[in-house]
Amino acid sequence: MEGRADVHRLPAGCRVAPSILSADFARLGEQVDEVLAAGARVIHVDVMDGDFVPPITIGPLVASAIADRVHGAGAIVDCHLMIARPEAQVAEFARAGADSITVHAEATAHLNRVVHAIHESGCSAGVAINPATPAGALEAIAADCDLLLCMSVNPGWGGQAFLPGTPAKLTALAGLAPAAVIEVDGGIDAATAPAAVAAGAAWLVAGSAVFGAADPAAAYAGIAAAAGAD
Ligand code: DX5
Ligand code: ZN
Repeated sequence: MEGRADVHRLPAGCRVAPSILSADFARLGEQVDEVLAAGARVIHVDVMDGDFVPPITIGPLVASAIADRVHGAGAIVDCHLMIARPEAQVAEFARAGADSITVHAEATAHLNRVVHAIHESGCSAGVAINPATPAGALEAIAADCDLLLCMSVNPGWGGQAFLPGTPAKLTALAGLAPAAVIEVDGGIDAATAPAAVAAGAAWLVAGSAVFGAADPAAAYAGIAAAAGAD
């Protein structure tokens, strides 16, 4: 980010960020290559611990397994940690090749400390909020963040419907941190993406709408076109 030479430069503009949560893990590399070839420059990695959210998904080993091909395409590994006490895992994700690490405001009593630990690890720092957490909860940390993530579903599962209160929260988050990337996550497809962008979202995470489609590259392109994304 501008003025902070020690962190990765995040792609500018509007971007669709495919979430590998909905990919075919038996063909993960191939599926990531498909969306990179279609133009994706942000690959979203959903980490769940069976504690902060009920499911257990993937961790640093999987981030590390895709990092070289993502970086080779000039793209970034965007890690979304839906885990309790994320401060304990920051160094591990940075070592795995994460470019941005996003933690939940609800998952730690030490949000300021973990945001600074992310920066010290050399990564860009994001903070996410659940649907029931107001945007104003980030007022005191927003200026320290490179990215603010608004959950537009309850975290834990792909394939849920976009919650209607999201656009107003996106606009509020954009007002809190004009220099930060505003990311929206959950229920994004070609129908919901335009409202999220109009409300202030720059990065649109899409899992099932991309990897649940018969042709992920075509699905990616369709959402990007609907969103007016790069
Ligand atoms: C949900 C995850 C999302 C998920 C989105 O807890 O954070 O990134 O993959 O999935 P879709 O796009 O299917 O709603
Ligand atoms: Zn996510």
